[in-house]
Amino acid sequence: MPTTPTQVPTTQVPTTQGTSDRAVPTRRVSFEESLTDLPRHFAADSDLILSHMFASLSSVFPDGEDFFVRSVRHFRDRVTDPELKRQVAGFIGQESIHGREHRAFNDRLDQLGYPTKRAERMTRWGLATRERLMTPTSNLAVTAALEHFTATLAELALSDEVARTLPGDPAVRDLFLWHALEESEHKAVAFDVYRAVGGSERTRVFTMKGMRIGFIVGMTVQVVLSLLGDRSTYRPGALRQSWNRFRRTPMMRREVWDQLRDYDRADFHPDDRDTTGLVDLWRDELFGADGTLNDKLVDGTPAA
Ligand SMILES: [Fe+2]
Ligand SMILES: [Fe+2]
Repeated sequence: MPTTPTQVPTTQVPTTQGTSDRAVPTRRVSFEESLTDLPRHFAADSDLILSHMFASLSSVFPDGEDFFVRSVRHFRDRVTDPELKRQVAGFIGQESIHGREHRAFNDRLDQLGYPTKRAERMTRWGLATRERLMTPTSNLAVTAALEHFTATLAELALSDEVARTLPGDPAVRDLFLWHALEESEHKAVAFDVYRAVGGSERTRVFTMKGMRIGFIVGMTVQVVLSLLGDRSTYRPGALRQSWNRFRRTPMMRREVWDQLRDYDRADFHPDDRDTTGLVDLWRDELFGADGTLNDKLVDGTPAA
């Protein structure tokens, strides 16, 4: 786990319109081997709520990311800008590998007693039902909104040293850090496709308002159910102690909520927050010539 890059300021820049030049490389990585010795409470200081929160987040990723891929792929042929076309290919590649690696993590969590398989089934069913009932544009609006969630959390992970320590076990930190880098790299792709195919501002903002409540309520329910199945939750004082810690974590900061709400602003664009410096820094740190995650690349070649 790299510790050198710490606080890297991101800046608010004037609204960027049009597709900017972004590298969205597909890195073939595998974390499975490093997860073999994972302890039950893998988060920092064996924290109860944090362990269940990271497990719950991971449990919705594989089927969520499959949905993202389907919703963007549906419009692939309508994208005419060659630069955006290239980024769509990168987006599909990155999200597919995120799904695969989080599924491997979920398998390991399942062995440790987390209800990740049940959560995967529920997510799969919920999203398949949505796709049957709603239009492809509406599903793409959901993807663009949730990509703003992942971009916000990714920026927090890449810019805040405390946030990076929370997953605890080095293998889990590496997994989430790699995911955070790639979420930042492709943060505007689904949004740009949504705009390129004529998605309306009204639906975009309306969808986000629903997602903000739905995602947070859904995740809270998932974490609570996961905690209820863990004997450690019932140890006197364990939950209260863990909660006192959790409410002071960087995720609970007011600025994170404000950043999520920024999506509702007229003419919002994901690139309004310039994270290119942050991405360059971590791309080099993780996958540069001496990248700390180069050993996770399946073909062994640096893919900065
Ligand atoms: Fe992802
Ligand atoms: Fe993503």
